[in-house]
Amino acid sequence: MTQNLADTSRPAAAPIAANASATRGWWRDAVIYQVYPRSFADSNGDGMGDLPGIRSRLPYLRDLGVDAVWLSPFYASPQADAGYDVADYRAVDPMFGTLLDADALIRDAHQLGLRIIVDLVPNHSSDQHEWFQRALREGPASPLRDRYHFRPGKGEAGELPPNDWESIFGGPAWTRTENPDSTPGDWYLHLFAPEQPDFNWENAAVADEFRSILRFWLDMGVDGFRIDVAHGMVKAPGLPDIGSGDQLQLLGNDVMPFFDQDGVHEIYRAWRKILDEYPGERIGVAEAWTPTVQRTANYVRADELHQAFNFQYLGAYWDATALREVIDVSLDSMRPVDAPTTWVLSNHDVTRHATRFGNLPGGTQIRTPGNREQGLRRARAATLLMLALPGSAYLYQGEELGLPDVTDLPDEVRQDPSFFRKAGQDGYRDGCRVPIPWSGTEAPYGFGPTPGGPSWLPQPAEWAQLSVEAQTGDPNSTLELYRSALAVRRAQPALGAGAEVTWLDSPEGTLTFRRDSAEGSFVCTVNTTAEPVTVIAPGTVLLSSAGSTEVTGAKAVLEADSTTWWEV
Ligand code: GLC
Ligand code: CA
Repeated sequence: MTQNLADTSRPAAAPIAANASATRGWWRDAVIYQVYPRSFADSNGDGMGDLPGIRSRLPYLRDLGVDAVWLSPFYASPQADAGYDVADYRAVDPMFGTLLDADALIRDAHQLGLRIIVDLVPNHSSDQHEWFQRALREGPASPLRDRYHFRPGKGEAGELPPNDWESIFGGPAWTRTENPDSTPGDWYLHLFAPEQPDFNWENAAVADEFRSILRFWLDMGVDGFRIDVAHGMVKAPGLPDIGSGDQLQLLGNDVMPFFDQDGVHEIYRAWRKILDEYPGERIGVAEAWTPTVQRTANYVRADELHQAFNFQYLGAYWDATALREVIDVSLDSMRPVDAPTTWVLSNHDVTRHATRFGNLPGGTQIRTPGNREQGLRRARAATLLMLALPGSAYLYQGEELGLPDVTDLPDEVRQDPSFFRKAGQDGYRDGCRVPIPWSGTEAPYGFGPTPGGPSWLPQPAEWAQLSVEAQTGDPNSTLELYRSALAVRRAQPALGAGAEVTWLDSPEGTLTFRRDSAEGSFVCTVNTTAEPVTVIAPGTVLLSSAGSTEVTGAKAVLEADSTTWWEV
């Protein structure tokens, strides 16, 4: 899978755009849009999104009003986990394009004032990575085995896994190898799929290699890295048993011997030095699932990374009390380390928020469509709330179109590796990965160049009405709501990074907060209940997730499941 390894004609770095906001700390309040390359835009009609496709749609993202684009992995990969299994960290997978395409994409983005963040997957490689292949081929004595976690099995003949760890995708976290002479051999660790062997970060060659990979992409001109499984690289010494039958339940609630170990922070201190050597504030954002926001804050201490995803916020349901609590905890936890809080509602691993909020509270993996209308109403309101909070916000492609999760994909088209392994987490992540609709009345709705052409996952027929083309210019559309919200967010001095949140008294089931800046004040009202609520109008309406907010004299009616932005 390293076929374009030969593609070493690396171009010189694309300069940081002159027109990208030159202010220090651009990332402190950046709106960062996640592109899932498989599903964004397919330039050559093979049904798979690609880098030239993304490049051709950059003006759309500029006009939407985002500051940066995070690209999920597009590296050479056998795609056992949709590219999160990397065979060559310095090559573009031919299905996505070439390194020259990546260079052109970075250059164009910078020209348009957009920054580019790439995904880095340092916890594990693909089993097709050259190191892992050699480690297998050369047998137990291979020095390359120490770059991964190879261990003899337990039991009389080594027939049992070395410890009791389970894979996040289901089944044991160990797979037994076969020796070159075909006898049963040692086992290797994989916290995810068997095709994703975990690196041993105690091995200096691994650490060296990733420092070099960072520099490779920084030299290409990228503005930052989203670090995959940033909490996983260091394992507790001796790889101790967990001793619990239900490990998936513990994930994210407890410190595990393979997650959120204090040693990972040493790695980020080393990486921060590299990032700081480059001009233009290159950033690192941690995908760190930790038990508490307080522990997440450790990843963004001054000498570590810049941002970490706020998964506690993503996990909160549409409920005033729960939201206020998680907002307060998030802001309070980041204050001591002086890092911006981040906010996120959707990504490629969870059910889209338009579907989550149309269902009863049930976590981030939902398999039923629920009440679509309610879900969309709440999703629009939740987005306006998120964009009114201090810090940086992450958007996931298609949420600006109000896309629901596709909950009825036939089993035969599913590709999520955990779908095929029993008792694993998730398994239904394909539902949020369906290619997005751009235009036209026939699938793939402008995702690919030809009406009637392929798309790697089928799109629902209703998506014709949800396309970018169908929503553009319709003042009630979700797309126009996002465009307006991002424009107002840029223009309002009290929005973005600076001003604190001050909570004001508000009827039950509603939230009201104020943000004051020297140049003006802003108020956000949120009604999470199913009934309209009448309040004293706090100012002049800037934007309403319900389309409009009725104001009569001093009184305003907050529609059910709605958020309103006010200028004071
Ligand atoms: C991260 C990615 C997810 C992937 C996993 C293993 O959680 O977001 O998509 O499956 O890491 O790399
Ligand atoms: Ca393609």
